Amino acid sequence: MNVDVLLGLQWGDEGKGKVVDVLAPGYEVIARFQGGPNAGHTLEFESRKHVLHIIPSGVFRNDCINIIGNGVVIDPIIFENEIDGLSPHCPNIYKNLLISKRAHLILPTHRLLDAAYEAEKGSAKIGSTLKGIGPTYTDKISRNGLRIGDILSPKFKEKYNELRIKHIQILNMLNFKFQLDEEENKWFEAIKIIQKFTFIDSEIEVNKLINQNKKILAEGAQGSMLDIDFGSYPFVTSSNTVCAGTCTGLGIAPSKIGNVFGLFKAYCTRVGSGPFPTELNDEVGEQLRKTGNEFGATTGRPRRCGWCDLVALKYSVMLNGVTGLIMTKADVLNDFDEIKVAVSYSIDGKIIENIPYDLSQNISPVFASFKGWKSDISKIRNKSELPIELLEYIRFVEDFVKVPVILVSVGPDRKAIIDMR
Ligand code: GDP
Ligand code: IMO
Ligand code: MG
Repeated sequence: MNVDVLLGLQWGDEGKGKVVDVLAPGYEVIARFQGGPNAGHTLEFESRKHVLHIIPSGVFRNDCINIIGNGVVIDPIIFENEIDGLSPHCPNIYKNLLISKRAHLILPTHRLLDAAYEAEKGSAKIGSTLKGIGPTYTDKISRNGLRIGDILSPKFKEKYNELRIKHIQILNMLNFKFQLDEEENKWFEAIKIIQKFTFIDSEIEVNKLINQNKKILAEGAQGSMLDIDFGSYPFVTSSNTVCAGTCTGLGIAPSKIGNVFGLFKAYCTRVGSGPFPTELNDEVGEQLRKTGNEFGATTGRPRRCGWCDLVALKYSVMLNGVTGLIMTKADVLNDFDEIKVAVSYSIDGKIIENIPYDLSQNISPVFASFKGWKSDISKIRNKSELPIELLEYIRFVEDFVKVPVILVSVGPDRKAIIDMR
C-alpha cells in the first residue's frame, strides 16, 4: 500500500510539521489533503525554525514532491509570503510543489466574512484563526466557490466579481465595516505568483504515482477533535481532519491507505474556544504552557493546556484506524513530579468511558496518576536510555488505546526523535 497518513489526534499542534519532516526521507511524495492557512506546522533543523501554513512539510527535502490536494483551501497572499520565505532554502520549490486545480481559493472577502461571523457570535465565538476557512468551505459546499483551476479561465475576473458581490451583500447585511481595495490588489498580485506553479489534476497524478509504487505520505492539518463531523462541534474547523479526509482530499480510494500515524502530545493543548475537559487553569497549566512554549504558530495566541485525555485519544484512534502512535513533546514533562491522564469522565456522578455527544456539559475527568521522571530526556536518542517512568506512562497509553507508540519526540529539532520499534 502506498499512501501512509500522518494526522493529529487532539486539538491540533501535536507536532505534525516536525514529524512529517522527520519521516519525509522515507517518502517520495508529501501531500496535504485538507485545511489551509489556519494550520501552522513548525519544523526545526540546523538551528533554524520554519512555520508552514499551506505548503506541505516535505518542502525542505530537495527530492521530495509536495502536493497541495483538492481538499485544501488556499489564500494566494499567504501562499506568496510563504514562497518568499522558503525560496532561499528550497531551490527546487517551483519544480517540486504541485497544486490541485480543484483546491478552493480563499478570497479577501472570505476573510472578512470570517471576522463578521465571529463578531456576530459575540462570546460564543469559535476562536477562529480568521483566515477565511469557514466561509471558503461554505462556498465550496454551497457550490459557489472559486478554484485554482478557474485562474486559467478567461472568465476568472468575472467569476471573482460574482462571488465578491455576494459576499459584500452579506457583509452589508451584517453591518460589518471593511476596507477591501488594498487586500484585493495584493490578492491579484499573488495570483500571478501562484500561476508560476504547476496546476495539476491531483487525483489523476496521485493515482499515477501510486501505480508507479511511489511512497506517499499524506499530511493532516488540525486534529481529530477539530473535525467538522466528529470534533467538539461547533467549536471545530470546517473540514474533515480525520483519515477519511485523505480519500476525499486527494482523490484516492480507502483501499490505498496503508499506515495511519496518529500524533499526540504527552499532555494536551487547545487554542480557541470550546470544551476541553482536562484543561488546567492553574499553575500546572501555566508550567505546561511555559515549558512547552505553547503559543499558536499561526496566531501567536496562548494555547490552553491540560493533561492528556485518553477518552478523547481512544475516540480519535477509533475514527482514524491508527496503526502507530507518535508521542510528541515528552521532554516538556521533564520537571513534573506527577503526570496525569484522563481515563474516563464523571458527568453528574456517572462514569462515562466514551466521548459524549455534548462535550460542553459539566465534565470532571477521572485521572490515572504517574510518577514523573525528573530528568532531561531531550538529548536521548535510544529507547534503552529512556527513564522507566516514561516507559511506564507509554505502556499505559498503549494498553489503553490498543495501539503501539512507534516514535517519541523529545524536542523541536528534527534530530530529537526516538524510534520505539
Ligand atoms: P503542528 O501544527 O502539529 O505542526 O504543531 P505546531 O508546529 O503548531 O506546534 C508544535 C510546537 O512544538 C512547535 O513549536 C514545534 O517546534 C514544537 N515541537 C514539536 N515536537 C516537539 C517536541 O518533541 N518537544 C518540544 N519541546 N517541542 C516540540
Ligand atoms: P494545525 O494544523 C490548532 C482551531 C482554531 C479555532 C478552530 C476553528 O497547526 O494543528 P478555523 O480558523 O479553522 O476557522 O478555526 O480551530 N484551529 C487550530 N488549532 N491547530 C490548528 O492547525 C488549527 N486550525 C484551526 O483555533 O478554535
Ligand atoms: Mg500548528
